[in-house]
Amino acid sequence: MKITKICCIGAGYVGGPTMAVIAQKCPHIQVTVVDLNQERIAAWNDQDVKNIPIYEPGLAEVVGEARGRNLFFSTDVDKAIDEAQVIFISVNTPTKTYGKGKGMAADLKYIELCARQIARVAKEDKIVVEKSTLPVRTAEAIKSILDNTGNGVQFQILSNPEFLAEGTAVSDLLDPDRILIGGDESVEGQKAINALVSVYANWVAADKILTTNVWSSELSKLTANAFLAQRISSINAMSELCEKTGADVNQVAKAIGMDSRIGSKFLKASVGFGGSCFQKDILNLVYIAKSYGLNEVADYWEQVIIMNDYQKRRFSNKIVQTLYNTVSGKKITFLGWAFKKDTNDTRESAAIYVADDLMSEQAQIVVFDPKVSEKKILADLDYLETRTLDQNKALIAAVEDPYEGCKGAHAIAVLTEWDEFKEYDWQRIYDGMQKPAFIFDGRNILNGQELKNIGFIYQAIGS
Ligand code: UDX
Ligand code: ADP
Repeated sequence: MKITKICCIGAGYVGGPTMAVIAQKCPHIQVTVVDLNQERIAAWNDQDVKNIPIYEPGLAEVVGEARGRNLFFSTDVDKAIDEAQVIFISVNTPTKTYGKGKGMAADLKYIELCARQIARVAKEDKIVVEKSTLPVRTAEAIKSILDNTGNGVQFQILSNPEFLAEGTAVSDLLDPDRILIGGDESVEGQKAINALVSVYANWVAADKILTTNVWSSELSKLTANAFLAQRISSINAMSELCEKTGADVNQVAKAIGMDSRIGSKFLKASVGFGGSCFQKDILNLVYIAKSYGLNEVADYWEQVIIMNDYQKRRFSNKIVQTLYNTVSGKKITFLGWAFKKDTNDTRESAAIYVADDLMSEQAQIVVFDPKVSEKKILADLDYLETRTLDQNKALIAAVEDPYEGCKGAHAIAVLTEWDEFKEYDWQRIYDGMQKPAFIFDGRNILNGQELKNIGFIYQAIGS
């Protein structure tokens, strides 16, 4: 089958960049990205391509090239489904906040709504591709809905998890380590797999396109995220031991990373991992393991989350303890709010939890993040339901200028590893702060010795 029309339901951090790159690399394929969120679609269509709703290095350029040519953003979901041969589902799958599996299982209501909508609209055979990270055997549920509520047309369900990391989404998509496509082992299933392979083959080498059965593909995605998160919790666990023993976690990470079996990536000790995937996917894995009665497996993976929560709390406790056991009324300036650099995404960012802890101790928080607005920060805190919006507003504010933000502060806390923080005029910042002037570097990115020479009391993670 020659693919000429695809659509993607969900114009988020995964769907948006992924479809933009497919459109750029496959000018012969018409790609339509649809979303119920009108504001988001309007932003994707903004005349000034710099105003697209997702900040990713290089993304505006890719969208600028393909948009209006073979890349379209729309709220007309029915039309896009009707026209497409291949439908990607890239909607959100948050952790359930109610009922059975609350706080652990993935909430599949958005996926189910999509499946029902596809079933209702489709008048011809379609390939439906799971792009969102999903629990194992979700494809089965989607298939059952499609087959039982559809108009008698044939659906092939493929699992094609996305491994891009935010902040490097465009380069990850252009040059992926691998593309994973899981499908049914029947003849029809193989045809669908081949059709999707032919799309990626426009720019990805054949030996990097891996095909498996659906369940292996679904579980591989959860496993990859669990392994990655586990590395961070492992090095973060060692960071506390380093602090107690006089070892330096950066030196330890370098020493172990040179072992080719371990590898050097993903060993940066930090204030804790954030992002929309790691916690959600591990909780989901834990839930799945428990549902099969595999309690030891579940406990093993749950420890990764327990360690991460501990690392965030440990950071806020350290700030309180170091500031003479009270931060009440003290100004603490956060550099960074996003969950990592080069993204405007704040989901599950460690900054949210550290701020919440310090606000409970009545600290006055000021935030500077190059890509995150005050509105977003307040929405993130609101979601925790610790305080009312007005109570939060009394304790936290964002600033547009980092020097202004640091003026009069008792302490600075680095929560995101934005490169620009390293280039600041730290003498100027020091001169404007209360003394003693403290810096808590939650990302180990600043030059501690230089800061100490200026007069700062500098504390890093794991040394
Ligand atoms: C992750 C996976 O990397 C990606 O493959 C998957 O598709 C989605 O989930 P993402 O969450 O976008 O991607 O970013 P990632 O680079 O993995 O970082 C996640 C969190 O871990 C961030 O908060 C980051 O700051 C933190 N981190 C990462 C560390 O604390 N130390 C490290 O060494 C690496
Ligand atoms: P991700 O990081 O996985 O891309 P996001 O939350 O950024 O997740 O994006 C998911 C998008 O899916 C949101 O913009 C949301 O509005 C959209 N969405 C959810 N359900 C539907 C649906 N049934 N039809 C269309 N769009 C949907």
